[in-house]
Order: sequence, then C-alpha cells, then structure tokens
Amino acid sequence: MRRFLVGSLWLSLLGSSHALATSASTDIFCQKYPKALGCESKQASCAICHTAVPSLNAYGDDIKGALTGPIDATLIGALDKIEALDSDEDGASNITEIEHHSAPGNGSIKPEADAQLAYDPVIAMRRLRAIYCGNPASYEDLQKVKTAADPKAILHAELNKCLASPFWKGEALFRLADKKIQPLSAIGFGGNVVIADYRYDYRLFSYIMSDDHDVRELLSANYHIDESGARVEGVIARQEPAQVGQRIVIGGGQPLDPTRRAGMITTQWFLAFYTMFAPLPRNTASQTYREYLGMDIAKGEGLMPVANEPRDVDARNVKQADCAVCHSTLDPLSYAFSTYVGIETVQAFLFNSNGTYRATRQPWEAQGQLFGQPVTNLLDWATKARNSDPFKKNIANMFFKQALSRDPLPSEQGEFEALWKALPDDAYSANKLIHRLIETKAFGGKRS
Ligand code: HEC
Ligand code: HEC
Repeated sequence: MRRFLVGSLWLSLLGSSHALATSASTDIFCQKYPKALGCESKQASCAICHTAVPSLNAYGDDIKGALTGPIDATLIGALDKIEALDSDEDGASNITEIEHHSAPGNGSIKPEADAQLAYDPVIAMRRLRAIYCGNPASYEDLQKVKTAADPKAILHAELNKCLASPFWKGEALFRLADKKIQPLSAIGFGGNVVIADYRYDYRLFSYIMSDDHDVRELLSANYHIDESGARVEGVIARQEPAQVGQRIVIGGGQPLDPTRRAGMITTQWFLAFYTMFAPLPRNTASQTYREYLGMDIAKGEGLMPVANEPRDVDARNVKQADCAVCHSTLDPLSYAFSTYVGIETVQAFLFNSNGTYRATRQPWEAQGQLFGQPVTNLLDWATKARNSDPFKKNIANMFFKQALSRDPLPSEQGEFEALWKALPDDAYSANKLIHRLIETKAFGGKRS
C-alpha cells in the first residue's frame, strides 16, 4: 500500500482554493500519463511532483521552471518540454520512468528493465522450501531442479507438498493471522479474564486460506472449525462455564446467530476485543479496513469522505476539521458494526452475549457507507468489501510480503497486478495465487 503524508491530505481535503488548483495538476498529469506510478489514487499522486506538499521534488521543480503561465493552463506544455530530462539524476529519463511505473522525481526509485532479471528456478526452490515448508532445500534438491528438463514442474510439485503440510497450515498461516487477530492471552481462552476464545479465529483463517477454499469467505463464513479441523455449523456453546472469582470467564464458543456472521470480522473475539464498550465501533471498522482491505485510516490511507459526516452520533467531538479529515470516512464505515455487541458483563455472564447481534443496540446500522456506496448492514458491508479490488490486492500483498519481506517495487507492479487480477479465474484460491507467485521474477529473479 502506498503511504502518503496526512498533512498533504488535509490540504487537499479541506476545500481551500489550493485544493482545486492542485487537484487539476493531478488530473492533467494522469490524463496524459494514465499508467504512471501515483495515478492509481488522487492522494498518492501528489508524490509525483512533491516531497511534502507544497515543497516540490526535483521533477516538480523542473515543471515549475518550464511553466509559462498559470499551472492549469500551461502544465501540458511544461510536461512535454521536460520528458527527455532526467530530473532526479538517477540515469533514467523522466519519460522512461513515467512509462515504467517509476518515479521521475525520486532518485532512489528507478525502472528496472525486465531484461535485467532472469528467472532462476534454483533461487525459487530455495525460497519456496524456506517459506512454505519451513525447512531448507538440500543440495540434492537444488541439483535436481538445476538439471531438470522442466524445472517449474518440480517447483509446483514441491509447493503442493508444502501447502498441504502441518507447517503451512498450523504455523505459517497462523503467523500471517497474528496481525489480524491480535491475540492477548490474558483475556483469551485459559486467561484470567476470558472475554472470548480466539483459537476459533486462527482455525477459521487457516482453513479458508488453504486447500483451494475461497478466500472471500474470510468476510462471509457462517461456520467455524473445531479442534479436530471439522466444520461446525450453528451456535457453539462455551467450553468453560461462566465463572467469577480468581478467574473471570464471561466468553467462549461462538454465540452469534449464523445468519448474522461475516467470517473473521464477526467472531466473538474480533467483536469483543475491538469494540469493547464503544457505542460506535470505530476500532472494529478501522481494523477491518486495515487488515482486510489494506487501508490504514490512521495513516491517512483510504480516505473517502462522506458528505455531512461525521455527524458525531456518540458525542465524541469528531466534527472539528482536524478530526473530520479522517472521521468523515471512518464514522460511516463504523455504523454497520454498531448492532453487534462488544463486551458486556452481567449479560455476558448469564447469556454469553459478547459478540452477538442485537438490532436495538444502536440506531445507526443502516446509515453507513463503504467505498462511497450506502450499506444497509454488516452483511452488505462485507459483501461489497470481499468483492472489491482492494480486498484482492490485500490478499496478494499479504502473500507477496510474506515471501519477500517488502511491498512490490515499482518495477514489479505488472507482476503484482497480474497476481491479484487472477484471483477470480482461480476461484479465489490462495494456493493458486501462491503457485503464480513462485513463477514471478520478483520471487525467483536473478540479476543477469
Ligand atoms: C504534475 C505535477 C504535480 C502534481 C501531480 C501535483 N502538483 Fe502540486 N504543484 C506542482 C507545481 C509545479 C507547483 C508549483 C506551481 C507554481 O509555483 O506555479 C505546485 C504547487 C502546489 C501547491 C502550492 C500552490 C499554491 O498556489 O501556492 C500545493 C498546496 C500543491 N501543489 C498541492 C498538491 C497536492 C495536494 C497534490 C496531489 C493531490 C498535488 N499538488 C499534485 C506540481 C504538481
Ligand atoms: C489520521 C486520521 C485520524 C484523525 C485526524 C483523527 N482520528 Fe480518531 N480515529 C482514527 C482511527 C483510525 C480510529 C480507530 C482506531 C485505530 O484504528 O487506530 C480512531 C478512533 C477514534 C475514537 C474511538 C476510540 C475508541 O477507543 O473507541 C475517537 C473517540 C476518536 N477517534 C476521536 C478523534 C478526535 C476527537 C479527533 C480530533 C481531535 C480524531 N479522532 C482525529 C483516525 C483519526
């Protein structure tokens, strides 16, 4: 995901006259060069010409020098004039950088011609064994790949073994789930104050992300997985009885009505831990947006302000301009979560009510928006979310980062795009995505 300065964002959102003019520079630039890095979103685009708005980078400086009048009227001409220059002095001309998903104003980002990288199946085998099998490839394994007539066939066969292994399903996928679940053992199963049992969250995640299941079930599953790995339908009673005293147990099992479930974001743990006692579950919505759609509002990502928001429905003082810049997106995202109980005390003790649905909890359920579209309730929210491009990109990015410990480079955008765009053809299987990933030059490339 691209990061950008919240500061520059405020300038562009707060409706000053600058905002109109600067939005025009982006529109003009991106109409002329639609494939340029940064044109994928308005917020990201400012970095093409600015370091931190309004300061210009080297490319922006050259544009400024080439302007012959007001920027709106003379920008196109200025862009033409400086195409052949190398503003950031990194050895690639501005136009080469623009056409190859690179940054003409940032010397540390340059296009890497595909030709410079050759796919090396031995590198791919090394990486594959370490990441997906959790054990290093032996000398013999590597020799076998080196001398094979069809080395890719060996890689895919090996990968199939890894992805079926206990290491992958019981360990590597669990580590991928950590940030989504944020387990806290003191308040999970067996802890001192048990609000919910997050072992269900790990098992559900691992089940959906393996064996060619449909990854969109992360946001739609209405079943759970028990300790033996079997699917369980319906309400699941708590395993430990409610108790108060040395240990307090108020949660456990999965009490939510299955017709109200939307996979990972409606487990008892997710709702109890993120919503807690909040009337408007902002943390819950923000965590979902961050971990399942790849956009972190706290970092100014994914802002899509809704008109006349935030209304400040729970009197938290978020209407001020300083807060509205984020909360005009976040509050409408949160309304659909407000009919799901976070943590209760007496009720939970008696009825295991943490994470259950209660239509009368708050009146805001049907007033929300996601991606600029109204959403009637959380199931509608989750349907729109799991069928969106940000969801697909986030899945691909998760596996890309797991394999390479970094985001895709500008030169890898083409391969990255092909990965997430193939999800529908692959029936949304994570395994198939990984089979594509190991064939990329990002994964198995070697400088030749
Ligand atoms: C194609 C290059 C380009 C892009 C993209 C771009 N700018 Fe600019 N921007 C400039 C240049 C060049 C200037 C200086 C213009 C001048 O001095 O006449 C400028 C000036 C500004 C200023 C100062 C304006 C003023 O009137 O004092 C602000 C604020 C600004 N940009 C914000 C933004 C924001 C926010 C974005 C992203 C939404 C953005 N710009 C995108 C090139 C760009
Ligand atoms: C950069 C974006 C941003 C700005 C600016 C911002 N917030 Fe938030 N706010 C968030 C996010 C995101 C969350 C959800 C928690 C999280 O994921 O970090 C949140 C959560 C909250 C919550 C709920 C906390 C809870 O525990 O339930 C309140 C209340 C709140 N913000 C008030 C404010 C106020 C008041 C201001 C202005 C002084 C403000 N925020 C400015 C992004 C922002």
